[in-house]
Amino acid sequence: MTDHLVGASRALREIAQEIEYFAPTEATVLITGETGVGKEVVARRIHQRSQRRGRFVALNCAGVPDALLESELFGHMRGSFTGAHRDTRGWLEQAKGGTIFLDEVGEMSVRMQALLLRFVEHREVQRVGSEQVQTLDRVRIITATNRDLVNRVAEGAFREDLYYRLNVVHLKIPPLRDRPDDIAPLLTYFLEAFSRAYQVARPAIAEPTMALLTAYPWPGNVRQLSNVIERLVVRHRAGVIAPEDLPTEVSRGERQGTSDVVCRPRADALYDRMVGRGESFWTVIYDPFRSHNITCDDVRAVVARGLEDTRGSYKLLAQRFNLSAHDYRRFLNFLQKYGCRLPFHEFRNPPSGHVRPSPRADPSQEATMNP
Ligand SMILES: Nc1ncnc2c1ncn2[C@@H]1O[C@H](COP(=O)(O)OP(=O)(O)OP(=O)(O)O)[C@@H](O)[C@H]1O
Ligand SMILES: [Mg+2]
Repeated sequence: MTDHLVGASRALREIAQEIEYFAPTEATVLITGETGVGKEVVARRIHQRSQRRGRFVALNCAGVPDALLESELFGHMRGSFTGAHRDTRGWLEQAKGGTIFLDEVGEMSVRMQALLLRFVEHREVQRVGSEQVQTLDRVRIITATNRDLVNRVAEGAFREDLYYRLNVVHLKIPPLRDRPDDIAPLLTYFLEAFSRAYQVARPAIAEPTMALLTAYPWPGNVRQLSNVIERLVVRHRAGVIAPEDLPTEVSRGERQGTSDVVCRPRADALYDRMVGRGESFWTVIYDPFRSHNITCDDVRAVVARGLEDTRGSYKLLAQRFNLSAHDYRRFLNFLQKYGCRLPFHEFRNPPSGHVRPSPRADPSQEATMNP
């Protein structure tokens, strides 16, 4: 992930300017904005401009059960739970002299909020299973959320005292549709980056295509733009991208259902733990679901995201979720039992509104896999 903040809009230039002012200080920063607007890029940028020597550590709080989040953040002592074979430092300790970035902080449980408050206020860290409390300064805290924290406070779901502690500097990143001036520079940036990554010549964008890309409301923001460009680069190689090459929702200017977009960040975080970090479906989805830490809607959103990428293939999905062939039946049975087994054919030829499937998945592989 980059710390390079691309954009030409006034909003983005102001954010970049502000970062220059406060990055070298210790100030705690809260970054808010819809999913995919670039909250993590901004957090990395702050760290990079802070000249801190320590590490930048990013931790996503969504979908992580409390016990795991606590031990990840604060560390644990040997024997404090099954599988704790040795004393382990938490991410806060590892971020000493650097920055800890807590993503999706709005999803934290009330219990974890209390532990975080203790750290933010007193800089106190206590490893799970330890009596000892240590003080840890020189860790810059940046948090992010796509939730409206003021609303969460009003609902009683987020502690007001913590909110004020985190909200020392508040950066609000507007959605991409409110800063259309960023679209052209982002397009150029992603076309370059993906052409280099796939080692293909950079395709050109026809004038009417550009007009459609600029007019589209981008409900998934920069992440969605980046995905669309990646697919275009892979498919069109060195050609000129015409309007009909765009995904239908973009060429027709349709917005996805907002519920789909709202469910996304949490699903994306869970998905990334499996596909990006190699954790298994049983750990990331099954266990938290059984202990009621994630809902059926979350599971369905993760499955939908996966099926979009595998073009409806459950077999490929099981591989992506780090399941052995042996577990395939159990996986399908679980989805079936809780009404999370989505019809695969909807992802074969997705209706407008679904992101197009990845060109890398091979649909022919599925013929016998979805009874
Ligand atoms: N201004 C930007 N310049 C370059 N790349 C960007 C910019 N904004 C976002 N991106 C890219 O878009 C993608 C999404 O950005 P990021 O992960 O920072 O979003 P986010 O706001 O944290 O999303 P979420 O709420 O889903 O966690 C990333 O690949 C990121 O590199
Ligand atoms: Mg993020």
